[in-house]
Amino acid sequence: MGPIPLCVLPLFSLAVLSAVAAVDDDYTWPQWNVPLVRNRRTTLLSSPNFSAQPQPELSGTCGIECQRRLPVPSLDDVEQFLSYETVYENGTRTYTSVSVQGLNEVTPWSSNATSHSRRKREVYGTDTRFTISDKQYSTKYPFSTSVKISTGCSGVLVSPKHVLTAAHCIHDGKDYLDGVQKLRVGILKEKSKRGKGGKGRGGGGGRGKGKKRKGDKPEEEAQADSTGKTERKGKGKGRKSRSRRSIESEKPSFKWTRVKKTQVPKGWFKGVSKGLAADFDYALLELKKASKIKHMDLGVIPSVKKLPAGRIHFSGFDDDRPGNLVYRFCSVTQESSDLLYQYCDAKPGSSGSGVYIRLKEPGKKKWTRKIIGVFSGHQWVDVNGNGAQQDYNVAVRITPLKYAQICEWVHGDSSECRVA
Ligand SMILES: *[C@@H]1O[C@H](CO)[C@@H](O)[C@H](O)[C@H]1NC(C)=O
Ligand SMILES: *[C@@H]1O[C@H](CO)[C@@H](O)[C@H](O)[C@H]1NC(C)=O
Ligand SMILES: *[C@@H]1O[C@H](CO)[C@@H](O)[C@H](O)[C@H]1NC(C)=O
Repeated sequence: MGPIPLCVLPLFSLAVLSAVAAVDDDYTWPQWNVPLVRNRRTTLLSSPNFSAQPQPELSGTCGIECQRRLPVPSLDDVEQFLSYETVYENGTRTYTSVSVQGLNEVTPWSSNATSHSRRKREVYGTDTRFTISDKQYSTKYPFSTSVKISTGCSGVLVSPKHVLTAAHCIHDGKDYLDGVQKLRVGILKEKSKRGKGGKGRGGGGGRGKGKKRKGDKPEEEAQADSTGKTERKGKGKGRKSRSRRSIESEKPSFKWTRVKKTQVPKGWFKGVSKGLAADFDYALLELKKASKIKHMDLGVIPSVKKLPAGRIHFSGFDDDRPGNLVYRFCSVTQESSDLLYQYCDAKPGSSGSGVYIRLKEPGKKKWTRKIIGVFSGHQWVDVNGNGAQQDYNVAVRITPLKYAQICEWVHGDSSECRVA
């Protein structure tokens, strides 16, 4: 398969793009026996102080190479990392310890499957983002599953009532963010005012004629505040770029829903899992009201590199394109059992997006998309554990264990979560 010239790809063929990428019959969702994660005991804690501020960028993360030197966690450790806190909208906080069974029955993920070398995919350059500014697409599956979190992040609907996001969008490792007291989730509203005229510009924020847009400075245009409303800044300036026009004609419109409860694994908390905290940068939010939007299921894959071009996809609300949903795909350059490194272009605001791929249902002709990770964001990673930092975009991968935990959070019943 040769490179696809993106400049000639109209937006409506995005779906075709992923199909082209995966033509091999082997690209089937694997079936997993996942461990059983059961709640052991729930105790009441004091209310959080809600004193933390959002972090624009995470640093000092112990990354893949650094983690290789850490001892393999024992069952006790794993149970501690997966134990979790729940915060309710009235400020009540609880701690739930869990037990994990069947850890050995999980098909082992082989770390031999990956090489340390970084595969570069230069074909797609550095900015592979498409602004899905046309409501015709942004309010349709799969884009419609992407939501905005009122603390400034993105998330994805994994059930009618549940949103998966990054833990750091909720908690800085020491305390809950200030904004978590009134946490809300914004779902893009369908707007019918616009006709089909907008179609041609659908990918307006993407790449124009194959030119890199890195040098563009759309920051002047508008900035999303923490509630997701936009505020016009630097009015005028006489620039008539396509992206500017599409922003002007496409005011964001979200339907905001209150969050009833929030769950964060203890592995994310400072000092609990030490160098493994990055692996636990995920949280689940339960909405007060179920959404009618179709959600995306969770899935588990053994190795991203076995996928066509090792490619992942995600959409979120990048700060530099306020109110617009931004879609991108790219190849994973390195992976461990819990993390995916890639160089997808992404700005703050897209943290918490659901990373998905599309594979065939076993024994069927049907292809389905599933969430296989949570986009954590741009991070300064301690590569060798010696303090030297390198930057990566990091996604937390959904392992069989995490699948079991998140599934239990969603269903409230671990017996529904035996097979991923
Ligand atoms: C809240 O802040 C106080 C004072 O800084 C501290 O002693 C207490 O442990 C904090 N409580 C929580 C739940 O973080
Ligand atoms: C807060 O909400 C939780 C869950 O709905 C409930 O169990 C608890 O009693 C409430 N606490 C207060 C102080 O209202
Ligand atoms: C797989 O990894 C183990 C331990 O890291 C090593 O001993 C073994 O040689 C590797 N196998 C292959 C095929 O690379």
